[in-house]
Amino acid sequence: MAEIITALDIGASKIVALTAKFSRGGEARLEVLTEYVGKCEGISNGCIMDLNRVSDSIKRAVGSLGLNNLSASNFIIGLSGKDVGSSVYNEDEIDIAGKAITKEHIEEINRVAGAVSIPSMGMEIKKVRRSYYVDGRRGILEPPIGIIANKLGAEFYAAYASVAYMRNMSRVLEYAGVNVAEHCSFVPSSMASALAVLGEEEKTRDVAVVDMGHGTLDLAVYSGGQIVYSNVLDQGGRELLKSLTSHFNITERSAYKLLFENGMAGREYLNGRGDEILEAEFSFKDRRAQITLGEFIGVLEEKIDEFLLWIKKQLKDVKDRLKVSVSGLVITGGLSMLRKLSQKTKRFLSISDPHVVAPCPLRGLSEGMVHPIFSTSVGLLICGIEG
Ligand SMILES: Nc1ncnc2c1ncn2[C@@H]1O[C@H](COP(=O)(O)OP(=O)(O)OP(=O)(O)O)[C@@H](O)[C@H]1O
Ligand SMILES: [Mg+2]
Repeated sequence: MAEIITALDIGASKIVALTAKFSRGGEARLEVLTEYVGKCEGISNGCIMDLNRVSDSIKRAVGSLGLNNLSASNFIIGLSGKDVGSSVYNEDEIDIAGKAITKEHIEEINRVAGAVSIPSMGMEIKKVRRSYYVDGRRGILEPPIGIIANKLGAEFYAAYASVAYMRNMSRVLEYAGVNVAEHCSFVPSSMASALAVLGEEEKTRDVAVVDMGHGTLDLAVYSGGQIVYSNVLDQGGRELLKSLTSHFNITERSAYKLLFENGMAGREYLNGRGDEILEAEFSFKDRRAQITLGEFIGVLEEKIDEFLLWIKKQLKDVKDRLKVSVSGLVITGGLSMLRKLSQKTKRFLSISDPHVVAPCPLRGLSEGMVHPIFSTSVGLLICGIEG
């Protein structure tokens, strides 16, 4: 029988709800039935700042889906922000003593290695087994039942969020009429975005995905077909706009217009146009501000460099701690639309071919949704079928 699932992507600038019909058995089939995109209020850089406003935003989103009975759907909800910590990793092994590995050994290693220790005041939101290893041979995805071995090990990835954040999230959902205990599952937004933009083959390589949104940068690393790391920076497009409004004393409306029409990732791409004059509205005077294109791009570039430095540090940590050398980078989210961002990223991170990717099209998904700002939303539906 078909199930109904609803992806809820509660972002800093927008909230998206996608309802889909999905049948298990044979080849899983997913068909998007309804789409909602609205303004999201009360969230800042991934933090819930105003319970009522967030809850009203969710209520509008789920109310528009035409679900007569909210319990008819399971909700998959993306989590992001500084309260969703960097993922933790655990590996452990058990003795097999030269015998054949049995189903019981597999259960035992999953229990032992799966006991990932979450920092205090945090709670686990997602745990994924990366692989098994047998006598030091790594990267075994299926349970190695029947193999004769001395040691059996397993590696696990786990994402967690602060208890306070989860309680606030549960409250806003409950206020909006969604039964959290029975109908909600939570996923790091970074993982959802990655699932929407990476192909099956790409996931087996050592590849990172960064979703650059309005309030956060959500990073996930895949290796050997599984997620191995995720982290969140609580900054995004909002910080670019804030830098522009405060540096030039211009209105937010002007900053948006300049960013969309003239923004680019670095001065090196100006091609001699640095002295061009841009017009904007001063925020405190009834006069127009005049800014050179070079100055404007310089302010953007400072923030972009900070973002790229954060990504660089993450990739270094992944290499040092997990021995995964990321060689590919996919960029998505609204800020990925900034001109020359992939060129700048390539130079800054010395990665051969960073590219901007929109989410994969799904059956029933409108063309407009196949855009980088909807990667998390589409990916949450994919998480819903993958369980
Ligand atoms: N062409 C563009 N050039 C530069 N920035 C852009 C462009 N298009 C969108 N953006 C920026 O993308 C951001 C919105 O991205 P997105 O919709 O992915 O964010 P969000 O999902 O609401 O936020 P988050 O995921 O961080 O909670 C805004 O800050 C906007 O300024
Ligand atoms: Mg987003």
